[in-house]
Amino acid sequence: MIEIKEVTQSYVKGKNVIENMSLKVEDGVVFGFLGPNGAGKTTTIDMITGIVKIDQGDIFIDGKSITKYPMAAKSRFGFVPDSPDVFEKLTGLEYLNFIGDVYGVDAKTRLERTSKLAKEFGMYENLKDRIQSYSHGMKQKLLIISVLLHNPKNWILDEPMTGLDPQTSHTLKELMKQHAAQGNTVFFSTHVLEVAEKICDKIAIIDCGKIIFVGTIDELHQKLNSTESLEESFLKMIGGNEE
Ligand SMILES: Nc1ncnc2c1ncn2[C@@H]1O[C@H](COP(=O)(O)OP(=O)(O)OP(=O)(O)O)[C@@H](O)[C@H]1O
Ligand SMILES: [Mg+2]
Repeated sequence: MIEIKEVTQSYVKGKNVIENMSLKVEDGVVFGFLGPNGAGKTTTIDMITGIVKIDQGDIFIDGKSITKYPMAAKSRFGFVPDSPDVFEKLTGLEYLNFIGDVYGVDAKTRLERTSKLAKEFGMYENLKDRIQSYSHGMKQKLLIISVLLHNPKNWILDEPMTGLDPQTSHTLKELMKQHAAQGNTVFFSTHVLEVAEKICDKIAIIDCGKIIFVGTIDELHQKLNSTESLEESFLKMIGGNEE
């Protein structure tokens, strides 16, 4: 579970990028975080993961404050950032072993999961190569595998489908649904509304640093008196917010 409580953040003094935001991402749901470019999705995710400072308020991962107990909070989630830039000089396998060491994954589990996941994501042959030789999508797959390797309760992903081929994207969507169905938390940002429509149990829409909707996609349609697609409702919601 992820709880954002009355959080405000500004990169530049006097200009709030996130304004008094509260949001609860419950266990057992795939939760989509939608919003236009520059709305504050990455900033929010970077605050949840402890990368960007929180000016006011706090964020809790399974009840552990990311500001007060960062180690405890960080051990409870896995994060796939929007740009998959990792230690380029390591091989894929060295990187996965490093992550295994950091999260204390035992040798047997590590071997089993690495081999299963690498095959599932078509990366088995590439693990011996240096990360610098990987394509964008391959780096992204390695990051996804590294999160699944330590199998945290909370998955946090910033635009995870970008750059993935259709088969990998399908595999990832299935894994996200399975993880949530097992009572875990999956929180991800996306611009691909068809993906959100297919896999999200719940969504939040953020615009100009403020949450303007939280609920199911059906509830969004009802709110807007719309029977149409998520795209139609999303555009209505964002349009309405600007007026
Ligand atoms: N390091 C930074 N320094 C100053 N301003 C920043 C910084 N990072 C982001 N911003 C600003 O914060 C706002 C929110 O940016 P953010 O990256 O969170 O948006 P986003 O919703 O993830 O957008 P996108 O859909 O394009 O990824 C934008 O106005 C952006 O210019
Ligand atoms: Mg972003």
